Amino acid sequence: MNQVTELQNRALAEISASADLRQLDDLRVRYLGKKGEVTAQLKALGSMEPEQRKAHGQSVNALRDRLNEAINDRRAMLEAEALEQKLLSEKVDVTLPGRGEERGGLHPVTLAMDRAIAIFTKLGFDVATGPEVESDHYNFEALNFPPHHPARAMHDTFYFGDGRLLRTHTSPVQIRVMERSEPPFRIIAPGKVFRSDSDQTHTPMFHQVEGLLVGKGVSMADLKGVLHTFVEAFFERSLAMRFRPSYFPFTEPSAEVDIGWEKGGGAEPGWLEILGCGMVHPNVLRGCDVDPETYTGYAFGMGIERLAMLRYGVTDLRQFFDNDLEFLRQFQ
Ligand code: DAH
Repeated sequence: MNQVTELQNRALAEISASADLRQLDDLRVRYLGKKGEVTAQLKALGSMEPEQRKAHGQSVNALRDRLNEAINDRRAMLEAEALEQKLLSEKVDVTLPGRGEERGGLHPVTLAMDRAIAIFTKLGFDVATGPEVESDHYNFEALNFPPHHPARAMHDTFYFGDGRLLRTHTSPVQIRVMERSEPPFRIIAPGKVFRSDSDQTHTPMFHQVEGLLVGKGVSMADLKGVLHTFVEAFFERSLAMRFRPSYFPFTEPSAEVDIGWEKGGGAEPGWLEILGCGMVHPNVLRGCDVDPETYTGYAFGMGIERLAMLRYGVTDLRQFFDNDLEFLRQFQ
C-alpha cells in the first residue's frame, strides 16, 4: 500500500511539473507504458495470493486511472498554453510603421506614344513595326533617295560599315508593309530612330510615329482631315493648323504641318512645326509593286518627344533622358 502511495505521489508531482508535451509523454511511457512502473505492478498481481491480489489490484487500478486522468489534464493545459504562446507570437502589431511601397509610373515619352497610338487606332490605323537595324535599301533607296541624293546628308546616319545602319526614321516601315501585301494600307509605325546628333533639341535616339494610308482616290484633303483630328485629340483642344510646302524625297507634294500655339506671357500666338507629310511619291509606290495610276496615298511622320514636350510643357528635351526621378515622378 505504501509503495502505491509513494508511486502515486511521485508520479503526480512529476506530471504537474512537466514543462511541455514531450516531457509529459515521456512520463506517460515511464509509468503507464508496456514496461512502465504501474504496468509492472499490475503484472505482479498474477503471482499474489487471491486476498492480497484483490486489495492490491484495486489500489493499482485506481492508481492507473488517477495517473491517466492527471496526464490528460496536464496535456490539455500544456496544449492551451502552447496555443496561447503561438497566438501571442503571431500577433500583428498594427502600430508598426508601414513598409512604404512606391507606385511606379510611365515615362512621359511612353505616355505620349501610347496616346498617339490610341488616337490613330481609333481612326482605324493598324500598328506595324520594323527593325531598328536597317539596310540602306529600306532606310533610303526604296524611299526614293538615290545613292548620292543630298537629302541623305540631313539624316546624320549611324553606319555599321557593312551596309547596315540604324534607321534614321520610321519611314522604312512603309516599304516593308507595302512589299508584303496588297493595297489598301492603313498603318502607323511607332518606334525608336537614331541620328548622330546631340544638343539641346536633339538626342541620338528619339521616337517617331509614321503613318501611311494607300487606297483608291486618297487625296491630300484626307491627309489634312486626319492630321487635324489627331492634333486636336492629342492636345485636347481646338487648334489652328496649317500646311507649309516642304520637300521629302518620298512624298510629292510634301508639306510640314504647323499648329497655332499660345506662347504664354501674353505673347502673340505663333506657329509651331510638329510633323512632316505628303502624298506618297509614285516612285515609292512603283518600287513596292503598287500601281500609282490606280492607287494614291498619303504618309506622315512625327517626333514623339516634340509632342510630349508641348503637351507636358517640358522645355529641355534632355530631361526625358536624364532619369531624374524628381522629374519623372511628376507624370505618375
Ligand atoms: N521621315 C521624315 C523624317 O524623319 C518624316 C516624314 C516626313 C515622314 C514626311 C513621312 C512623310 O512619312 O510623308 O524627317
